[in-house]
Amino acid sequence: MSSGNLAADRRFTYAQGLRQEGDPAAAAEVIAQALELTPGWPEGHFALGEALADAGRRDDAIDAYRTYLALDAADSMGAGARLHLLGAAERPRTLSGAYVRRLFDEYADRFDQALVGRLQYRAPQILRAALGERTFNRALDLGCGTGLVGEAIRDICTWLGGVDLSPAMTQAAARKAIYDHLETADMLAALKTIDACDLMVAGDVLVYCGDLAPIFTAVREKVLATGLFAFTLQRNDTEDFVLGPEHRFSHSLAYVVRVAADCGFIVQKIQNAVCRQEKGVDVPGLLAVLSPKPKSTL
Ligand SMILES: C[S@@+](CC[C@H](N)C(=O)[O-])C[C@H]1O[C@@H](n2cnc3c(N)ncnc32)[C@H](O)[C@@H]1O
Repeated sequence: MSSGNLAADRRFTYAQGLRQEGDPAAAAEVIAQALELTPGWPEGHFALGEALADAGRRDDAIDAYRTYLALDAADSMGAGARLHLLGAAERPRTLSGAYVRRLFDEYADRFDQALVGRLQYRAPQILRAALGERTFNRALDLGCGTGLVGEAIRDICTWLGGVDLSPAMTQAAARKAIYDHLETADMLAALKTIDACDLMVAGDVLVYCGDLAPIFTAVREKVLATGLFAFTLQRNDTEDFVLGPEHRFSHSLAYVVRVAADCGFIVQKIQNAVCRQEKGVDVPGLLAVLSPKPKSTL
């Protein structure tokens, strides 16, 4: 992250060191000095918000995040989520696309190692097991990332497409040469143009969408009458959807069942499934397999 001003960058680097050493209050002071040199630097205001929040200065952190948002309306750093978690904004219905893209562009190179090794990621195997030995003519992997789900389902799909918001993730998927078609786009946009498929999968992707109605509606439009929509989620047992401190949404089983029915699906399967760990602890999750309700019953 460069501000474009050498002196401000030096102060910022120093401030990052102070934060890492556990002195966020001092870091905030130094970032504020850097911002005197570059007041229009969005990332600087975001970093100031983080340091102030860590230092327990909630109101000042809120001001810093709001200044950041005024400079970067697309919110590529995820300030909207932080404002919500500080109690200063309504629960977002989804995370900003710019934030998700940036997050995964930065993560792409170490994604497979981090997920499979450190986080014990199992969503691809769980989805594959749920689909059994049925084969599919056209399958679309929504939020395909580096292709871990694609690898797991390749043998049961004649044609396999993948779509992901992050260019670095789709480039990593392309290097594995598993997909017949790859697209860098928001999945809602991609679903508007893609031909109908008999399988849609989303492994650990809908955790970035709070409100599931838009994606369920878009999939329902493009999944064939005999097709399936299979996905994993993080589970909570209290509210429809909750944004957690790790900036991922969790959903309740009752909510998923209700939205699925409202959007024209029959729930074939919904069950608890642990898809990953966080700091060595299993994260409660859900596996769901939906099929479209016949149009005559809608
Ligand atoms: C945790 S990764 C999972 C990747 C892959 N499905 C897997 O199981 O390994 C989530 C992926 O979803 C993508 N993603 C999140 N929201 C998206 C959206 N609205 N449209 C397209 N891709 C999205 C991210 O860019 C990221 O690559």
